[in-house]
Amino acid sequence: MVGFKFFTKMKKIKSIVTGGAGFIGSNLVDRLVKEGHTVIVLDNFVSGKRSNLSHHLKKNVKIIRSDISNIKNIDKYFRDVSYVFHLAGLAEIIPSIKNPKKYFLNNTLGTLNILEAAKKAKIKKFIYAASSSCYGSPKKIPTSETEKIDTQHPYAFTKFLGEEAVIKYADFFKMPNISCRFFNVYGPRLNTTGQYGAVFSNFLTQKKKKRPLTIVGNGKQTRDFIHVDDLTNAFIKLARSNLKNKIYNLGSGKETSINKIANIIGGKKIFIPKRPGDPNRSCANISKIKNDIKWKPRISIIQGIERLFQS
Ligand SMILES: NC(=O)c1ccc[n+]([C@@H]2O[C@H](COP(=O)([O-])OP(=O)(O)OC[C@H]3O[C@@H](n4cnc5c(N)ncnc54)[C@H](O)[C@@H]3O)[C@@H](O)[C@H]2O)c1
Repeated sequence: MVGFKFFTKMKKIKSIVTGGAGFIGSNLVDRLVKEGHTVIVLDNFVSGKRSNLSHHLKKNVKIIRSDISNIKNIDKYFRDVSYVFHLAGLAEIIPSIKNPKKYFLNNTLGTLNILEAAKKAKIKKFIYAASSSCYGSPKKIPTSETEKIDTQHPYAFTKFLGEEAVIKYADFFKMPNISCRFFNVYGPRLNTTGQYGAVFSNFLTQKKKKRPLTIVGNGKQTRDFIHVDDLTNAFIKLARSNLKNKIYNLGSGKETSINKIANIIGGKKIFIPKRPGDPNRSCANISKIKNDIKWKPRISIIQGIERLFQS
């Protein structure tokens, strides 16, 4: 059966999570440890925090401080590794416009460095955190994986180039991979500076401080918010499946306006100017991943927001 090796108790499965000290990465590490993996985290802590992983025992999670854009001697960490989950990346639009080269080195060259090490180690599968920003302002909503690529800022471009490199490695070197184009992920340990989490983390802070909620634009713009627990479930299923060399949208498949989020949270609102490169609408067509791994998102936006306020 497909999942047996993944769950075997005979020998612990070893996984690498790059960016494992960040928001999504640390939630994924929690989930992998629950599944019985030992995890090696590669992170330079540019936005991630050690405290996101402080609840783990050293024997389960080994944290290596390293910059993936400038790494030496990392092959030893890849020895006997089965799965590489590559999430390390810089993820803000405006800094990427101000300093595109930094984003290229970090997100694109960094991905190549990890691919090289993974190739040498003959891992089972490489799973890449791609971004729905590759669609720009898509014509079709919900947007499927076949939509035209239209990167509108260096962040989107560098993430997309990373995805292309991952796919090419499958062609050139027969390294099994999966690329997941994340929509807007939210949940505990949300990064307060990244573009994706900004709306939730701003609203949470503002609500706690009894300040008005700041809404970018008129608030009618929509996003597809997926809870990080739904996302990590999909990651685990993708890793243990026999699927390889595929691209999947990873979202909730539901479109939610910023005004709706603000109304669920409640309180006064103030409106601030729109940012460059922000699409008016965003929603994933998730039919492909639903069919292929029999997965579906389980946490509604209302439940997700309740959980955020409880955490
Ligand atoms: N959060 C979202 O909604 C979303 C949407 C689309 C794509 N993504 C992608 O998912 C990944 C994780 O995003 P996140 O929201 O958890 O962000 P995050 O900033 O919390 O996590 C990124 C992690 O990568 C680490 N990192 C960055 N550059 C590094 C480098 N050169 N070497 C080593 N570590 C490095 C950071 O320290 C951090 O721990 C990113 O690659 C991002 O582009 C996220």
